[in-house]
Amino acid sequence: MTDRSGLGGDTDTEEARRAALVDSLPRPSADTPLLAELQLDARRRIELKGRKFPRPERTRVITVANQKGGVGKTTTTVNLAAALAQAGLQVLVLDNDPQGNASTALGIDHRAGTPSIYEVLVDGAPMHEAVQESPDVPGLWCLPATIDLSGAEIELVSMVARETRLRTALDVYLDWRTTQGLEQIDYVFVDCPPSLGLLTINAFVVAREVLIPIQCEYYALEGLSQLLKTIELIQAHLNPHLSVSTILLTMYDARTNLAQQVAEEVRTHFPERTLRTTVPRSVRISEAPSYGQTVMTYDGGSSGALAYLEAARELAERAAPGAARNDIPAGVPAGSAQEDQ
Ligand SMILES: Nc1ncnc2c1ncn2[C@@H]1O[C@H](COP(=O)(O)OP(=O)(O)OP(=O)(O)O)[C@@H](O)[C@H]1O
Ligand SMILES: [Mg+2]
Repeated sequence: MTDRSGLGGDTDTEEARRAALVDSLPRPSADTPLLAELQLDARRRIELKGRKFPRPERTRVITVANQKGGVGKTTTTVNLAAALAQAGLQVLVLDNDPQGNASTALGIDHRAGTPSIYEVLVDGAPMHEAVQESPDVPGLWCLPATIDLSGAEIELVSMVARETRLRTALDVYLDWRTTQGLEQIDYVFVDCPPSLGLLTINAFVVAREVLIPIQCEYYALEGLSQLLKTIELIQAHLNPHLSVSTILLTMYDARTNLAQQVAEEVRTHFPERTLRTTVPRSVRISEAPSYGQTVMTYDGGSSGALAYLEAARELAERAAPGAARNDIPAGVPAGSAQEDQ
């Protein structure tokens, strides 16, 4: 039987061992920020390394979107995906950006001519013919993007069911896996381009959840209201189940007042949805893609990797919105509009 406790082996002993180790860490004081950072990393390493995360009851499809460029969408997509797969789950990344950055970071072949999301969206090719398994992390799969995808935005305009093509393709793929006796996919992450065109709309229609990475910099919140308005339109017309489930603060530099102010403002507006974990600015995170790797495999013990591991645990431990209430659409409910003002 599957162990749903989130821990492998003898749960109580294992938990007690981790707790005792965390307790034994020295207590840093407010004037020792470096020690505090080291202690945070040590705690995360002890608490999280080798831990199995709980399996969701059904596949969670999460679109990672923000039309602002360079805020950490791709970095967040690939590292959360790798962290969840390393924690024993089956994870699929749909690279829905012509830049193909997610495919690069996952070490997936995406040279011109490689079967990709383009053939799936434009030609209606079956997804399983293009999905590749990550060379580094078992249980991590990727539908790559090639340069062809840059033409898809225009080609899709005149197509039938242009907004729902990705959803149809994913439904067929998930059914196909079942007929092949393959394990159910637990998480699907869709990496979006920095725009709100048809590719991003397809990503909003395929998902139930949107994860918005917000860079802790000036201008971070500009454009956010336009993004939320677009999501409301999608809820009204194309996908009533969609909701912004998660906000992740990225490239956080605790030494600057600006980063702290941006983080505070985001937490004030979205108290429930913002993950407690923030992702620090980290050289290891930015180096990893040039080796065709996520930071989880490139340097799993680094602060950046441990932050993504903790963020992945938070994501996995929060129930998917609407999970226990299948009859209630999980869109941003009127009652929580306060949170979004
Ligand atoms: N926590 C971090 N620390 C340091 N560098 C980071 C971090 N997160 C992302 N980066 C770097 O910032 C740049 C932008 O990140 P990323 O490509 O993930 O953003 P994006 O939102 O996907 O961009 P685009 O809008 O172009 O798709 C990349 O060079 C990436 O390596
Ligand atoms: Mg990107």
